Amino acid sequence: MRRAIYPGSFDPVTNGHLDIIERGCKLFDEIIIGILVNPEKHPLFTTQERHEMLTAVLRDINKGNCELRVDSFSGLLVNYAVAQQADAIVRGIRAISDYEYELQMALMNRRLEPSIETVFMMPAEIYSYVSSRLVKEVFQLGGAIEGLVPPLIEKKMREKTNENK
Ligand code: PNS
Repeated sequence: MRRAIYPGSFDPVTNGHLDIIERGCKLFDEIIIGILVNPEKHPLFTTQERHEMLTAVLRDINKGNCELRVDSFSGLLVNYAVAQQADAIVRGIRAISDYEYELQMALMNRRLEPSIETVFMMPAEIYSYVSSRLVKEVFQLGGAIEGLVPPLIEKKMREKTNENK
């Protein structure tokens, strides 16, 4: 029984995240999608909203026999991973630019908790430039984000924009 944590802000979840989860499902029996609770980041969506959005879109992915669970955490990721009895942390790497920061985090996490391995996974090339930050920026400036996030997420973004008007 192999359990992984896939941590992140997921503000909002993108098709790139879902692609990584699908790939992770080929390696792990269970993946806990851990939403980082960090009010300092001033997220667009509340933790509760992100939790609901993730739960909804995960219903439509190709997960095989993998068990998926959405949760949230605060504090050190490795402490959360140990508390969840996880074997590994999954992180997506899109380009070399991601690598330096991810390597730093992976090595720091390993120093803090040597029993947890970090597994880097590459998303499909079509998602190699997709990030939650860019999706939000493009959407807020009126650009098309179709194909970058699931339709439900686009709808939620539209609702949130109207809410904030
Ligand atoms: O989606 P993101 O913002 O790239 O995810 C970053 C995340 C949540 C993986 C990272 O910020 C994190 O692990 N935060 C928890 C606090 C922590 O453990 N910090 C030390 C990391 S070495």
